[in-house]
Amino acid sequence: MRETEPKRVECVAAALNRSQIGITVVLSRYWPNTRDPGRTHKINHANRKKKERKKRATERRSWITLPLGNGGWNPQLYRSFGSLATKVERNPSFSSLNSDDLSYFKGVLGDKNVVQDEDRLETANVDWMHKYKGSSKLLLLPRNTEEVSKILEYCNSRRLAVVPQGGNTGLVGGSVPVFDEVIINVGSMNKIIAFDKVSGILVCEAGCILENLISYLDNQGFVMPLDLGAKGSCQIGGNVSTNAGGLRFVRYGSLHGNVLGLEAVLANGDVLDMLGTLRKDNTGYDLKHLFIGSEGSLGIVTKVSVLTPPKLSSVNIAFLACEDYLSCQKLLSEAKRKLGEILSAFEFLDCHAMDLVLNHLEGVRNPLSSTVHNFYLLIETTGSDESHDKEKLEAFLLHSMESGLISDGVLAQDMNQASSFWRIREGVPEALMRAGPVYKYDLSLPVEKMYSLVEEMRARLGQSANVVGYGHLGDGNLHLNVSAPRYDDTILAEIEPYVYEWTSKHRGSISAEHGLGLMKANEMFYSKSHGAVQLMASIKKLLDPNGILNPYKVLPHSLCSDS
Ligand code: FAD
Ligand code: MLT
Ligand code: ZN
Repeated sequence: MRETEPKRVECVAAALNRSQIGITVVLSRYWPNTRDPGRTHKINHANRKKKERKKRATERRSWITLPLGNGGWNPQLYRSFGSLATKVERNPSFSSLNSDDLSYFKGVLGDKNVVQDEDRLETANVDWMHKYKGSSKLLLLPRNTEEVSKILEYCNSRRLAVVPQGGNTGLVGGSVPVFDEVIINVGSMNKIIAFDKVSGILVCEAGCILENLISYLDNQGFVMPLDLGAKGSCQIGGNVSTNAGGLRFVRYGSLHGNVLGLEAVLANGDVLDMLGTLRKDNTGYDLKHLFIGSEGSLGIVTKVSVLTPPKLSSVNIAFLACEDYLSCQKLLSEAKRKLGEILSAFEFLDCHAMDLVLNHLEGVRNPLSSTVHNFYLLIETTGSDESHDKEKLEAFLLHSMESGLISDGVLAQDMNQASSFWRIREGVPEALMRAGPVYKYDLSLPVEKMYSLVEEMRARLGQSANVVGYGHLGDGNLHLNVSAPRYDDTILAEIEPYVYEWTSKHRGSISAEHGLGLMKANEMFYSKSHGAVQLMASIKKLLDPNGILNPYKVLPHSLCSDS
């Protein structure tokens, strides 16, 4: 074995002199920075060649223009995305852009921040999956809260619909226009405003790229409580607006807990200062929570304060194989019990997801034996005491191997190996994209039920599609993906509403962490009561009476039709 190989967690009973089945665990050296930010896959739409874009647009076109009653075609009035399931009609109360509007925006933002360039608009109109495409003619790039306020006030008075856009990495069609909405991106607002080393509280503008915040905090000896595969592109404002979950949720919990304050601009241009930096503050309703996860439908987030934990020195990552889902489940219970406070990630992927990664991503290899295993787990621990952590993980792995829960495993020996393990798990969405059209479902389900849905879906779809399961097992969050040769209503009819009914029957959520966007705006009732949805619609009406903020998204269209 070369020195750089990850160490195996293997059956060498004799060496340990314990039992017939034992394991040798050589724990890793310690590296402070779990993943090398430099190696992170960047999702950079702008760098894609124009030619490639055109080709993909034709090949993977999933948006369909439907004939109107008069037999004509008008994409500006009636759009369908991915299938006939999400039909949308343009709200006729919205105005269309005119030259006066452009002059106004140029006066406020300056010419170069009023973008009409075709190439840049093409990128901003299409989502990461190339599944949703709008036809906006304008992208605005405000540089401060005052500018956001002025442009929203103007749009509201003119009834110009807008779509707030961050890194455009959203997976539910929420970040791109449906028709001709004006795109507002606060990416130029990317300053770190303050960092308090005593409390670990970071205050920054909403356009900061997540990965830049991670690096900044790393240099300060702290960590961001949020990490996800799209970190190289997504913005903290987008993260907050989607209430992104990600890879550290099992340890640090939701942004509802970690975000201490916000500044947001309402549809009428009012600036709402909720930028507190206090951990405890019970003065009335905690309004910031309305904006966390509201997907740009209630306001544009312009500043954020986040509580960040200190960076701990001892990090270990194991990549393990299990032969059945029950073993994965048992391993999770054991990990919570035995690793407790040091557990910082518990991720899983099935062999179909692994296959995709190995076949579609360059330079990725399976660190385990060539035998195909049914499930793979990535377990990370982060703690402050090297020998204590080592002892704990060693005992946990030994016990798991002895009880037959793990069939193979390796432990990262350095940062490169750690990155390569993470690349496998984080690479699944990218591999799926490369494989072709994909139907994505992001579900919260009881862990014990979770994988039955994947199996049932596989049985339903037979040879017509590749059904893949992966996700944040530690949080009960399944990513069920159906990779198909084309977007096809026959396949879709097999998946939906079955997947939503199944989830509802098991009291799960149809949106664990990605949000509802356009994709699931009409499906909200599967996870929320009528009373709750009605109240949400009333809140929307109160804060955005003209419905200009991210129309057609989040809320059922039937409740927003008069706005
Ligand atoms: P966008 O995609 O631009 O927008 C998302 C939504 O937020 C839209 O509705 C938009 O209108 C709104 N919005 C954006 N900025 C603002 C703002 N300043 N104010 C108000 N509204 C705004 N998600 C997870 O939860 N966990 C994961 O592990 C995860 N992994 C991913 C991996 C990959 C490879 C990809 C492509 C995506 C992943 N996602 C994940 C989904 C996505 O990255 C997150 O939803 C992320 O938080 C979106 O941030 P963004 O800046 O790209 O926002
Ligand atoms: C992930 O966990 O990889 C992301 O949420 C993206 C996805 O679901 O594909
Ligand atoms: Zn996820």
